[in-house]
Parts: sequence; structure tokens; C-alpha cells
Amino acid sequence: MANILIIGAGGVGRVVVHKCVKNRETFKKITLASRSIDKCEQIQSEVGKENLDIAQVDADSVEELVNLIDKIKPDMVLNIALPYQDLTIMEACLQTKVHYLDTANYEHPDSAKFEYKEQWAYNERFKEAGLMALLGSGFDPGVTNVFCAYAQKHYFDEIHTIDILDCNDGDHGYPFATNFNPEINLREVSSNGRYWENGEWIETKPMEIKMVWDYPEIGERDSYLLYHEEMESLVKHINGLKRIRFFMTFGESYLTHMKCLENVGMLGIEEVEHNGCKIVPMQFLATLLPDPASLGKRTKGKTNIGIVATGIKDNKERSIYIYNICNHQETYKETLSQAVSYTTGVPAMIGAKLMMENRWMRHGTLNMEEFDPDPFMEELNKQGLSWNIKEF
Ligand SMILES: NC(=O)c1ccc[n+]([C@@H]2O[C@H](COP(=O)([O-])OP(=O)(O)OC[C@H]3O[C@@H](n4cnc5c(N)ncnc54)[C@H](OP(=O)(O)O)[C@@H]3O)[C@@H](O)[C@H]2O)c1
Repeated sequence: MANILIIGAGGVGRVVVHKCVKNRETFKKITLASRSIDKCEQIQSEVGKENLDIAQVDADSVEELVNLIDKIKPDMVLNIALPYQDLTIMEACLQTKVHYLDTANYEHPDSAKFEYKEQWAYNERFKEAGLMALLGSGFDPGVTNVFCAYAQKHYFDEIHTIDILDCNDGDHGYPFATNFNPEINLREVSSNGRYWENGEWIETKPMEIKMVWDYPEIGERDSYLLYHEEMESLVKHINGLKRIRFFMTFGESYLTHMKCLENVGMLGIEEVEHNGCKIVPMQFLATLLPDPASLGKRTKGKTNIGIVATGIKDNKERSIYIYNICNHQETYKETLSQAVSYTTGVPAMIGAKLMMENRWMRHGTLNMEEFDPDPFMEELNKQGLSWNIKEF
């Protein structure tokens, strides 16, 4: 029976709390800590004081984190704050000897690189301390890595190509808003694209490569090639891989808004002088946009995220598609959150559950596909994210 500390009371943090409370047989004591205590109080009022303790913490400060962890004495920390806090929270976990999990790779606030290098550099220290750091336990990264491991284990002798396909067909009724933290989201989609083929990374301009995919229960949607962090670990761990790409759907209106914001400099991440004070345009834009945590109530429609793998089984070519469909209104009914937060928060809870039940436990910094996918796939079906497989 585990004692856990969840850091970050945003859209995803809310889902993690709601789902951990539904799994009290694993999580005996749950504490939510975040920068703004009022957001923790709101979530506490939703699940009941008897189920959740709360605390205030600035997760940019290792010292504050260590003091909090020393007080709560959790078995693990679930980092559901922003990617900027990954390294400080990992450092604090090492100092206090507790396990770690996150949903997104470390990013420096001044330069978006989307790479695991700095977190993988902690591998030896986590190993020596007898601790585990599970990296990227959201949907993508996260479930998509597990889908690839499942395909590798049960369907292929060798996987040759993987396309990860992410469609959010939700409509929140605003002209423009992002479904998770605007700064992180807009940095991701406005960067150059990149995919991996025959051992090399090939760079593309943002939105340069487009294909149309027919998403089950949604229909045909324009899908654009982006770089996405799970590809970096999957190329290391999937046998025989020749190509991996990531595609995300965007509607015309979203792309027009993005282009306009980019053209006027609103996506900049460097400080500019404005009326005697310094502002970062992207941060100012994030202040103006609707809070993603507030979109839940208004969002209708579905998400569909999955992987298409092709390769060889018993000397024959094979192609499979594994995907999950999630309905925004149903997730709101259950957790007061839209499906993008839900599809991230549920896998974070499952990762923690498997760690705390010793079903996924190894020492070092580990990516999701390095574990047996079967228990995770079973939990997805039980915890609200059931999946389908189609063979072509
Ligand atoms: N793998 C995936 O599939 C996937 C998908 C979507 C999102 N994500 C990741 O999930 C994470 C959470 O996303 P979200 O949409 O929930 O973001 P969000 O709504 O912006 O919430 C982030 C929360 O972290 C808190 N926070 C930020 N800096 C902090 C600090 N220094 N100390 C303590 N708390 C701090 C924020 O506090 P305030 O309330 O005070 O601002 C906020 O409550 C992000 O890392 C995102 O990249 C992963």
C-alpha cells in the first residue's frame, strides 16, 4: 500500500488525482502539491478531504522539494507539473531516496529540444540509489510506447515501420485554444518536424509533410508530421526498425491562427522589452488563452491515438493498427476533465500503480517500452482507456 506525492495541479494533475483515488487499494495515502494552493484546494474539494492531502511547493527549488518529501515521506513522486521541473524533481527524489515518474521529457525554458539526454544522464545515479525513474508515462509518450512494445511482443518478429497517429477531434467552441499547457503545446507544434529513417534523423519544416488518415469513429483528417519525443527512445528499443514517424491532426482554423501568431512574433520564447518591462511573448499569449483545465465542460467529440506498425511475422508481411478512442464528454462526466488531460493522466496513474505493486520495477531511468507491455495493456482496459487492434 503506497504513499504517493503528486506534483502539479493542472488539467492532467486533476485526472491523476481522481484516478488514484479510485485505486485506493494501491494508493493508501495521496498528497497533491503545486505552486498555487487554490488549485489543489479545488481538486481536494472534488475528491474529498479524506482522500487527498494538499501542500504548496515551488518545484523549481530542489530545497523546497526535499523539505516537502522529507515531511510526507512518499514512496514515489509523480511529476505532473511542467517539463521544466523534471530535473529538479529527479534531483530531489535522489536526495530523499524515492522513486520518480513523469509524462514529458525535460525542457529548458529558453530552448525547446525535446530530448531525453539530460534525463538519461541520471541513469547511473538512479541505479546506484536503487531507485526507478519512469519517463514519459502519459499517452504519447507513454501508451504509444506500450503499444509498440505490445506489437513487438505479440505480432512481429521484426517491426520495420511505425507511424504514431494522434487525432484530437474535440471542439471546445473557442476560435483558438490549446488542449494542454499552451506554452508547451505551441512550442511543440511550431518547431521543425523530424522523423527517423535508416538510422538517420531527417528534418522537415513545420507542417511540411501532410497525409490524410481515416481515424475510426472520427473519419478522414489531415495529419501533419511532427517531431515527438517517444521516437528517440523507440528507435533504441524496437528491433529491426527502419522508419518511425509521428503525425498529429490540425484543422485549417488552428493552423491559420498559429501562422498568424508566429508571423507577428507571439510564439517567441525569448524575452522582449515592453513598456519598460520584460516579457516572453509565448508566456504572454498563454496568459491570454483559455486555461486548458477550463475546456473540459465545453469540449465535445473524440480523440483517437494509436500506432500503425508494419513488419514481418513468420516470414510474412504484416500491418497492424492499435488505437484508443476517448470521448471528451464521457471523461468530463467521470473526472471533470477533457480527453487530452484524461488520456495523459490515466497512464500516469497506471505507471505508478505498476511500480508500487512491484509489477514494473527496475532501477535506473527507464522508458515505457522497456517493460512487459501486458500488465499495462490490461490496466488500460480496466481504467477507462480500452484499445482496439485492426489487422490490414
Ligand atoms: N505524454 C503525454 O501524452 C502528455 C500529454 C499532455 C500533457 N503532458 C504533460 O503533462 C504535464 C501537465 O500538463 P497540464 O496540461 O496539466 O499543464 P497545466 O494545466 O499547465 O498544469 C501544470 C501544473 O503544474 C504546476 N506548476 C508549474 N510550475 C510549477 C512549479 N515550479 N512548482 C509547482 N508546480 C508547478 C502549475 O501550477 P500553477 O497552477 O501555479 O500554474 C499547474 O498546476 C506537462 O508536463 C505536459 O507536457 C503529457
